[in-house]
Amino acid sequence: MAVDTLSNAAGIIGAQVPRIDGPLKTSGTARYAVDYDFPGLAHAVAVQSTIASGRIRSLDVSTAEKMPGVLLIYHHGNMERVYRLFPRQDDATTSEARPPFEDENIYYWGQYIAVVVAETLEQARAAARAVRVEYETDKPNVNPKLSDFDGPRQSSWKRGDPDKALASAPVVLDQTYVTPVETHNPMEMHGTVAVWDGDSVTMYESSQGVVNHRIVIAEVLGIPRENVRVISRFIGSGFGGKLFPWPQSTLAAVAARTLNRPVKISCDRRMMFSNVGHRPRTEQRIRLGATPDGKLTAIRHDFLTQTSLNEDFIEHCGEQTPFLYSCPNLEVTTGMVRRNVGAPAPMRGPGAVPGLFALESAMDELAIRLRMDPLELRLKNDAGRDEGRNLPFSSRHLKECYLTGAEKINWKQRSPEPGSMHRNGKVIGLGLAGASWGAARVPCTATVELCPNGRVCVRSATQDIGTGTYTIFAQVVHARTGVPLDRIDVFLGDSSLPEGPTSGGSMVTSAVLPATTSAVNSAVNRLLNIAALTPGSPFHGMKPDTLAFSNGMVHQKSESRQVVGAAFRSGSQLTANGIPFEQVLKLANLSGITATGRTQPSFDDPKAKAYSLHSYGAHFAEVEWEPDIARLRVSRIVSVFDCGRIINQKAGTNQILGAAVMGVGMALLEETHYEPRTGQPINGNFADYLVPTCADLPDLDVTFLDYPDYIVNEYGARGVGEIGLAGVAPAITAAVHHATGVRVRELPVRIEDLLQSRILEA
Ligand code: MOS
Repeated sequence: MAVDTLSNAAGIIGAQVPRIDGPLKTSGTARYAVDYDFPGLAHAVAVQSTIASGRIRSLDVSTAEKMPGVLLIYHHGNMERVYRLFPRQDDATTSEARPPFEDENIYYWGQYIAVVVAETLEQARAAARAVRVEYETDKPNVNPKLSDFDGPRQSSWKRGDPDKALASAPVVLDQTYVTPVETHNPMEMHGTVAVWDGDSVTMYESSQGVVNHRIVIAEVLGIPRENVRVISRFIGSGFGGKLFPWPQSTLAAVAARTLNRPVKISCDRRMMFSNVGHRPRTEQRIRLGATPDGKLTAIRHDFLTQTSLNEDFIEHCGEQTPFLYSCPNLEVTTGMVRRNVGAPAPMRGPGAVPGLFALESAMDELAIRLRMDPLELRLKNDAGRDEGRNLPFSSRHLKECYLTGAEKINWKQRSPEPGSMHRNGKVIGLGLAGASWGAARVPCTATVELCPNGRVCVRSATQDIGTGTYTIFAQVVHARTGVPLDRIDVFLGDSSLPEGPTSGGSMVTSAVLPATTSAVNSAVNRLLNIAALTPGSPFHGMKPDTLAFSNGMVHQKSESRQVVGAAFRSGSQLTANGIPFEQVLKLANLSGITATGRTQPSFDDPKAKAYSLHSYGAHFAEVEWEPDIARLRVSRIVSVFDCGRIINQKAGTNQILGAAVMGVGMALLEETHYEPRTGQPINGNFADYLVPTCADLPDLDVTFLDYPDYIVNEYGARGVGEIGLAGVAPAITAAVHHATGVRVRELPVRIEDLLQSRILEA
């Protein structure tokens, strides 16, 4: 549906709405965390460990503290007291359990061992380099191979008897798939500006969760929660790396308190690889049992996931395995392997993304073993209900995703033999894979205020990490009131606003919709009541239920109103009658009408709890292989997704496009390498850690099926942030196999892998 053909306000739901914050970003006026500046602001620079395991024997700041401009140096010998957050405290989460400088122990390369604060950034940097450290060095363990692990494994999702079923299965596939450490690397690096005013601190942050961040800082500093305010109005994305606070935030708060001056600290790009999380490496053994005609009889998914020495982080690779396919016998087991690396963190589609690389690759291999079309194998084993939780699906259209994508990429023309398809002197390979990600409705509070200046303000302490959340709020208000988007002000990213959700799990849109709808409905009802009660109002004495509010005007229901011309923006031609809402406020002498709405979480809703809530999708990838020069390119990705109803086609499509780009990186480029002797992430910069650029990108095509899921909320919307990355890499490696005959089970695909191809001519 195109914007300019909309004839009613409600049509904005599902339309292609440009982001309301777009002009602020493109004009450079949006302020990000470290853009904030204050009189007397001092600069902090962290000193990092150059070993990955051992102890600090001595730390000498005598030269550094005499250097120009130096105000303060903290290290384990003189650090102010900061408190631990009990792991998984029920209302707050932190990234790194150990408070900074707690002791002299070193757990990973790059760990902060001191912080230098000075008048200028240059002075702080120079003094940080002058801090002398001697270590007792132990040999670090950054061994990427996890398979020698012999610790305990946790079993989950067990059903039937998978071992017996595998032993008697006519066809068995048994392979191990490996995904490397990947680093989030959002454009905007982590940074903090801490400003104290008496006993209260304001933190300018780049945070995916200002409410959680506020609680963590209050706990860590040991001060009341109401004395902490966290502001993240604009965020240069996070991909999960900014869900929970990192130690630089604590350092800024403590230093600013001691100096009684604002303090700014920022990670540099190199620190992004060591101090603020990564997707941990996984090694996943998949065993599939099947009948000769391709019915799954057993699935075993036994995976190992790397974590740090101090955090029990698990990349839950087996989360999608229990319900994606119908299969009577199944088990998932997990083993956690400790290494001298920084704390891992959730990264876009945690668990599902590496997990589906393994499961979907195995399904492709099984199809080949069975001489069956991999699409047919998916359709044959599609699940009609969630066999893991034993619940019906709220809404699942995975089969239609596959069939629609197959049509678009002309799958039926695919000849199964590797290297058998050609175009323009190149070998063509086609592959596909499925995707899934959970849905839920998390708690959210929002307020809507009708203001005397004719504007509407919406407020919630959630944040827009670049995904379009500002615009979603405005769309809901516009849909109900008809007030043009340029007269709707959305305030997010401030913990002092009514409590809203962390931008995680692709759950903000489904949480925001009910709260905002209920707030705007209450505000409108009060407005109509006031219009009827106020002497001097043209509606005085009328029954409120005979009145209506549309196009920003209060009018009698009998006078139907119509917008002519472009909706959403001021300047639309209105047919007269009725009065603007601000005039009602003026007649009643009100400073505004504010109403609050709340979203009931799905985990408290018996109706929602009776269903398995998930989104689904399928990616089809086409690669071009030039055997004579060993060049592989991804030439096309067709993505078809079932994410419930899409609220903003433009922002939603952007999410899947961006995820497909990230998927090309995951399949072909991304890997963080730890140097074995020092434990340093040696490719920790944008020259050596490769991500796709525009020149690497294929033709991308996104389709949403757009089936509303009314179990999740009254709009039928689930979420689109993370699911798009699931399934891209296995679709590409399936296509690589189809083109080259080489099966790559360890990402990323390397040229060394492809040089083994026996397909020598196009
Ligand atoms: Mo997402 S990994 O919950 O930001």
